Amino acid sequence: MIKAFETERELGFTAASTLAKQLIQNEKSVIALPTGATPLPMYEALLELIRFGIVDVESAVFFNLDEYIGISPEDPMAYAFYMNKNLFSHVPKVFHRIPKADTDSPEQEAMMYENEIRKAGGFDLCFLGIGVDGHIGFNEPGTPFDSKTHVSDLDPSTVERNSKEFGRKVPKSAITVGLKTIMRSKHIILMATGEEKSAILKEALTGRVDPAVPASILQLHSNLTVLVDQKAGAGLQDQRQ
Ligand code: PGA
Repeated sequence: MIKAFETERELGFTAASTLAKQLIQNEKSVIALPTGATPLPMYEALLELIRFGIVDVESAVFFNLDEYIGISPEDPMAYAFYMNKNLFSHVPKVFHRIPKADTDSPEQEAMMYENEIRKAGGFDLCFLGIGVDGHIGFNEPGTPFDSKTHVSDLDPSTVERNSKEFGRKVPKSAITVGLKTIMRSKHIILMATGEEKSAILKEALTGRVDPAVPASILQLHSNLTVLVDQKAGAGLQDQRQ
């Protein structure tokens, strides 16, 4: 199902409401969370729903999708920093995990992270953004569809784009939840905003299912919801509902 919105704010509210519905149904749900610019309106809306007492996140389990390797969680570039700033510092009692990527053995951390997700029962609901190269999480083009949580060498285009966005060179590798782990989620919500996502979104959702476009695997998920703004959804007119 594809839903298009006039504004990023409306999109964010719908994403946050979907999370609220999930938690009202099952307060112990396991939720996967993305970072980047796209989900910011969702986190804003979620904090409002929490403040109004509409949703309680304290029994839920949150896993982030990825983290850069080699920087401390306190570094403003780290996704741990981003998550604290935009969500978790406002809801301090919540259980949340993000890969510990300032370690000597990222491969081992990736394996442990995968085990934790499995022990938690997998994701009930997984929120995703999409990269301009078609990545989801940090599963870059060429990542095998059966990948579990692993160390990913970032595509030069991703490093360049994220460095530009951040104003400083971002690391060249990351730990990311794998495509198979993502695909096992009971419900996936893919969010995309802005003109720069329009072409890749169309390719991912209507093109060939091919590891060259990691997000194309989402075509094979039985419960996928795509939330777009007008610009990102421009190429998808026929598919929208
Ligand atoms: P963005 O990143 O939200 O900053 O565009 C999306 C992604 O890379 O998954």
